[in-house]
Amino acid sequence: MGISVAVVGFGWMGRVHAQAYARVPHHYPGLGPVRLVAVADDVPGRAEQAAQRYGFDEPAVDWRTLVGDPRVQAVSITAPNFLHREMGSAFAAAGQHIWIEKPVGLTAGDARAIVGPGQVAVGFNYRNAPAVEKARELIASGAIGAVTHARFRFLSDYAAHPDGALSWRFERARGGNGVLGDLGAHGVDLVRHLLGEIGSLVADTAIFIPDRPRPTAATAGHERGSGEPGPVENDDWFGSLLRMSSGARVTLDCSRVAVGEQNSYGFEIHGTKGALFWDFRRMGELGVATGPAYQDEPVRTLFVGPLDGDFGAFQPGAGIPMGYDDLKVIEAARFLRSVTDGKPYGATLTDAVRAAEALDAMEESARSGAWVNLP
Ligand SMILES: NC(=O)c1ccc[n+]([C@@H]2O[C@H](COP(=O)([O-])OP(=O)(O)OC[C@H]3O[C@@H](n4cnc5c(N)ncnc54)[C@H](O)[C@@H]3O)[C@@H](O)[C@H]2O)c1
Repeated sequence: MGISVAVVGFGWMGRVHAQAYARVPHHYPGLGPVRLVAVADDVPGRAEQAAQRYGFDEPAVDWRTLVGDPRVQAVSITAPNFLHREMGSAFAAAGQHIWIEKPVGLTAGDARAIVGPGQVAVGFNYRNAPAVEKARELIASGAIGAVTHARFRFLSDYAAHPDGALSWRFERARGGNGVLGDLGAHGVDLVRHLLGEIGSLVADTAIFIPDRPRPTAATAGHERGSGEPGPVENDDWFGSLLRMSSGARVTLDCSRVAVGEQNSYGFEIHGTKGALFWDFRRMGELGVATGPAYQDEPVRTLFVGPLDGDFGAFQPGAGIPMGYDDLKVIEAARFLRSVTDGKPYGATLTDAVRAAEALDAMEESARSGAWVNLP
């Protein structure tokens, strides 16, 4: 009966993956049902609670017991970044299919270390938004001419409070490169998905809140801390200038400490004949400027509808908003279909490696002050 899955790490993303699996058969009747076999989390009681609430057959404390378990065909890896490499390579080597959260480890080397015969899907959910798919289609059709320059932003305030707890996210060893892997990975993926490969880049990075209070209990999310202060080891912000292989120029800036910016993710893409505008918070709307005017060209608001991307699996008519969790349902469906068909749909490990290479290059550029060519 359907594909049997386990979820490893049950914080925010663990819950979202579990809910997405449950919803797949509602939105994609040809797929599923999915059997939730096991859930693992190392915080005592968290896996038990998750099993009871979301209907997993059994909770596990140690994820290693699930490696190679014949009852588990596919695994969601939704634990913190520093565990991605160890977990991902163990499950992949055992022949299990994996749906792993971005950024897939701490560096490009971590992402490359995941090797196995199964399918690997990566949590680059923003590319699944129907308006993003529509933008991709319009660019490919030449509707805005040749892309000349673009501005992508991933700005957030989730770490703007100076008393935000010093969770794993702010440590090098466990959180990696900070906002680069956290939001920058999404940004790079969106740039690549829409505009192709990055040829070279230059970047600067900064830590604006150098110390934070240590957490006094296990964290899952962005709680305040009240312990002794400790050092923030990775970046709060980066700004980058990308030269695309196509010749287009792109700026991508990302912040986790931008007061006044709540999940302000999006892009403005300019071409020789037009432009496209998208803001994640108005996910179903795409601003489109195309026409003969060049100067004073009006911008139309296109509400995506059932013919755009996967919108039709969720809503019957244009203008009815979809939500963030729906993007994860789309991702789950693509993952399950890739397992069934034996070929990838959606973001893959190669996309994660490419994103991580760009982020590694940004760190190198910030250190050296020089342009860096991408492999
Ligand atoms: N795609 C997205 O939009 C998106 C959004 C948020 C987070 N993420 C990614 O998802 C991952 C998890 O982020 P989160 O926000 O859910 O974090 P979180 O802190 O809410 O949850 C992580 C969970 O993993 C558990 N865990 C830690 N060590 C473990 C171990 N050894 N074995 C089993 N479980 C363990 C923790 O106890 C916690 O419950 C990160 O890699 C993050 O980058 C992706």
